[in-house]
Amino acid sequence: MTTKIIICGAHGRMGQLLVRCAKEDAELEIIGVMGSGDDLSALIENTDVVVDFTTAAATLSIAKIAATHRKALVIGTTGHTDAQRSELIEAIRGIPVVLSSNFSMGVNILFHVTRQVAELFQDSDVEISETHHTHKKDAPSGTAKSLARIVEEIRGGKVPVHSHRIGDVVGDHTVSFATPDEKLELTHHALDRATFARGALRAAKWVVGKGAGLYDMQDVLGLKRSATSG
Ligand SMILES: NC(=O)c1ccc[n+]([C@@H]2O[C@H](COP(=O)([O-])OP(=O)(O)OC[C@H]3O[C@@H](n4cnc5c(N)ncnc54)[C@H](OP(=O)(O)O)[C@@H]3O)[C@@H](O)[C@H]2O)c1
Repeated sequence: MTTKIIICGAHGRMGQLLVRCAKEDAELEIIGVMGSGDDLSALIENTDVVVDFTTAAATLSIAKIAATHRKALVIGTTGHTDAQRSELIEAIRGIPVVLSSNFSMGVNILFHVTRQVAELFQDSDVEISETHHTHKKDAPSGTAKSLARIVEEIRGGKVPVHSHRIGDVVGDHTVSFATPDEKLELTHHALDRATFARGALRAAKWVVGKGAGLYDMQDVLGLKRSATSG
């Protein structure tokens, strides 16, 4: 059985990769590719799942259409304000949704390991730094915010995040733990955006048929231990 999919933001950097990777996947059938002027409601009845890699401003209306038609949703878009995120979470209550700031396997392992190190290395200072390409609209990255949230849930307080925008860097994240005597660094380098696309498509196949609820990539990959990370 194939999973029927609509890709929103299909002409963007991520969207083009999602279309390419979905075409290569025999378990997926593309029902629609949506750009900013297209009408999602015209095609949505024919799909199992909608994938959103658009802009922070566009996600809510896409989510409302998915919720009205009771379709599963995967949200990769980042940069939502707290108010946008709350409105979004309210809108998707009745459907299964995977929301993740980062769909790569390596970053989700980084989320998992960061939680463990934050628990073990309690006396250390923590800082996060991230570097991305100059076209990225949001700063800090959604992934850096997720990493900060993981450490803050364990330690309290605020974790400083440093953002750099240079060249065509796909995405680098480092979490540094330091005492006056030693430093432990956890670093992930995304080498190809296809890692996010393949992860999002894996999430799309996973989420169809799940009960209504908000899931993240830790659920998809079976890495979940306690609180949400992503
Ligand atoms: N979660 C992850 O793993 C992950 C990884 C990478 C990127 N991201 C995030 O994914 C998002 C997209 O990144 P990107 O680099 O692909 O950006 P991008 O190249 O700017 O592409 C965004 C696309 O969304 C389209 N769009 C805007 N409003 C739309 C609407 N209402 N319906 C359908 N399409 C719409 C835009 O079309 P127009 O040009 O016509 O406006 C544009 O083609 C960003 O928020 C980024 O941070 C997430």
